[in-house]
Amino acid sequence: MRVYMAFAALMLVVETTQSMPCAPQEFTDGIVCVCNDTYCDTLEDVEPTGENDFVAVSSSKSGMRFAVSKGEFTKVAPISLDYDRNEPIVILRPKRSFWDSIIGIFESKNATIKVDRSITYQEIVGFGGALTGSASWNLDQLTPALQNHVYRSFYSKDKGIAYNMLRLTIGGSDFDFEPWAYNEFPENDASLSNFTKLDPRDARKVEQIKQLMEISNNKNIKFYGTAWSPPKWMKTNNAWTGPSALKLEYYQTWADYHLKWLELMDQAGLNMWGISTGNEPINGVIGFLIIKFLSLGWIPQTQAKWLAENFGPTLRNSKYKNILIMGPEDQRIVLPNWLDIMESTVKGSTSYLDGISLHWYWDFFIPASFLDKSHDQFEGKIIINTESSAGSFPLQRHMPILGDWGRAEQYLNDFMSDFQHHLNGWIDWNLILDEQGGPNYVQNFVDAPIIRANDSTLIYKQPLFYAIGHFSRFMQPGSVRVEASSSERNVKTAAFKQPDGSIALVVHNREYTTVNLEVEDSVRGTIKLSLPGKSIHTIIYK
Ligand SMILES: *[C@@H]1O[C@H](CO)[C@@H](O)[C@H](O)[C@H]1NC(C)=O
Ligand SMILES: *[C@@H]1O[C@H](CO)[C@@H](O)[C@H](O)[C@H]1NC(C)=O
Ligand SMILES: *[C@@H]1O[C@H](CO)[C@@H](O)[C@H](O)[C@H]1NC(C)=O
Ligand SMILES: *[C@@H]1O[C@H](CO)[C@@H](O)[C@H](O)[C@H]1NC(C)=O
Repeated sequence: MRVYMAFAALMLVVETTQSMPCAPQEFTDGIVCVCNDTYCDTLEDVEPTGENDFVAVSSSKSGMRFAVSKGEFTKVAPISLDYDRNEPIVILRPKRSFWDSIIGIFESKNATIKVDRSITYQEIVGFGGALTGSASWNLDQLTPALQNHVYRSFYSKDKGIAYNMLRLTIGGSDFDFEPWAYNEFPENDASLSNFTKLDPRDARKVEQIKQLMEISNNKNIKFYGTAWSPPKWMKTNNAWTGPSALKLEYYQTWADYHLKWLELMDQAGLNMWGISTGNEPINGVIGFLIIKFLSLGWIPQTQAKWLAENFGPTLRNSKYKNILIMGPEDQRIVLPNWLDIMESTVKGSTSYLDGISLHWYWDFFIPASFLDKSHDQFEGKIIINTESSAGSFPLQRHMPILGDWGRAEQYLNDFMSDFQHHLNGWIDWNLILDEQGGPNYVQNFVDAPIIRANDSTLIYKQPLFYAIGHFSRFMQPGSVRVEASSSERNVKTAAFKQPDGSIALVVHNREYTTVNLEVEDSVRGTIKLSLPGKSIHTIIYK
C-alpha cells in the first residue's frame, strides 16, 4: 500500500493500491525484485473506475517497478503527477553513473503524444515465453511455493503479466542437458515404432503446465510447438549439428513425427494452438559455423516441398487440422524472400502457412520495415516473434546481468518498432534460467526475465520482466493497436484498445532526463505527466 505525498503547488492524487510492491535488491548493474517462498510482488487493481480516470503503471531504471498512480483526465485544468518528486514510489535510487549526472544537468524536455482510437491497426494474438528443458529443470530446483510465484508472475491476469502463449520444444533444444529427439532408436525406423509415449522430460513439463494453469487461473493458453532436430538417422549428416538436410525418404516420417507428438500431448491433456515448420532452418545450412546446437537445415525450395507434400497435408487431414502452421521461424533477414521462393518452387505451398514466425536476434540491423513487405504480400497471415533473448552476441556478456536496464530497453525498442509494423504477438525464450544463464549443453548462455538464485531459495525478477509486462499485461488477445504518435524521437509510444474498449497507452522515455509529457486523447482530453529519465509507463483509461 502506498500513499503519495502532496507537494505545494502540485495537485497529487492520494491513492492506495493493493499490489504487493517490488522487494528490491541492488546489484552492480541495477535493481532486481526478489521473491522468496512467502513474498512476491504483484500488479493488481489497475482498472480505471470512472470515465475520466486513468491509471498509470510505471517502471524505471532508477527503481520503479510497476508503481501504480491514479488520476483524472480533464480538458480544463490538467492534473500533474510528478513521479520524480513522488519519492515514495521511487523505491531505491542507485548511485547515478558519471554519464547520468553529466546528462542530468541539462533541462528537462517536453513531448506531446496524440492518441486517436478511431484509427485502428492490427489485432493482438498475445505474449508468452518458453518452457524449455532448462526452464523446466530450473523450476524443479525451486520449492513449490516459489514455482507458483513464477507461474503467477507470468500467467496470472490479475496479479502477473498475463502471458497467454507458451512455446514448447518438440524434442530437445540447446537449453537441455543434451541433444535429444523421440525415436532415436531403433534407427531407420520410418514407422516410428518407438514413439509411443511422452519422454519423461515432456511428461514433467505437462505436469508443470497443469500446475501453472491452476495457480495462475489461466485456462486459455495458446501452446506452440517447435522442433529443433529429428533423430540423427533422418538427417543427411547423421549428426545433431553441422550442415544437414532431411533425407528424402524420411519427408513423410518427419511429418508423422510431429503428428505423433500432437497426439501424445493431446492425450496428456494439452491441445496445441500452433506448430512450427522447424527452428531456425538457416542454422543447418550456414549458421552451424557459429551455432553449435542441434538443427535441421532447410532452404525455401526443400521446405516448400515438405510443407506442401507432407507436413501440410498430414496435419490438415488429421484431427489437428485447425492448428496454426507457422514458419519460417528464423531471423527476419530471410523475409520476404523465403516465402516468395517457397511459393515459386511449389505453387500453393505458402497457403499452408497461417502465420509468419520470426526470431529477433538480428533485429538491430534488419529494419522492422522487412515485416511490412511480408505483411502486404501475404495479407491475412499473422506475424509472431517466437523467440528473443539478450546476451547471445559476440562482445555481449553471455549470462544474465542482474538488474540491467539496458536489456529491458533492447526489448522495449523492438516492441515499439515491431508493433508499428504489423507484429501480432511476441513469445520470449526461457521463462527462467539460473544465474549463469543456463543450463545449456553448448554453453550458449543468455539472460531471462526471471533468474533462479544459486541457492534456489530466491528468484530475481529482472527489469526485462517488467518491460515485457508493460505490454503483455495490457494487450490481451483481441486488443487492437490504435493510432498514437509522439513529438519526440526519444519518447516512443504505442497504444492499444483492449477488448473491453479501454485504452492502454505505452510510453517509453529513452532520454536520460525528465520528460514533461502531455497526452492528448481525441476522446478524453489531456493529461500531463512528468516522466523520469529512462522509464516505461502504461497508462490505462476508458
Ligand atoms: C521474504 O521476503 C520478504 C520481503 O522481502 C521479507 O520480508 C521476508 O523476511 C522474506 N522471508 C524470508 C524467510 O526470508
Ligand atoms: C517546455 O514547456 C514549458 C511550458 O509548458 C516551457 O516553459 C519550457 O521552456 C519548455 N521546455 C523546452 C525545453 O522546450
Ligand atoms: C526406445 O527408446 C528408448 C529410449 O527412449 C530406448 O531406451 C529403447 O532402447 C528404444 N527401443 C528400441 C527397440 O530401440
Ligand atoms: C552463482 O554461481 C555462479 C557460477 O555458476 C557464480 O559465477 C556466481 O558468482 C554465483 N552467484 C552468487 C551471488 O554467488
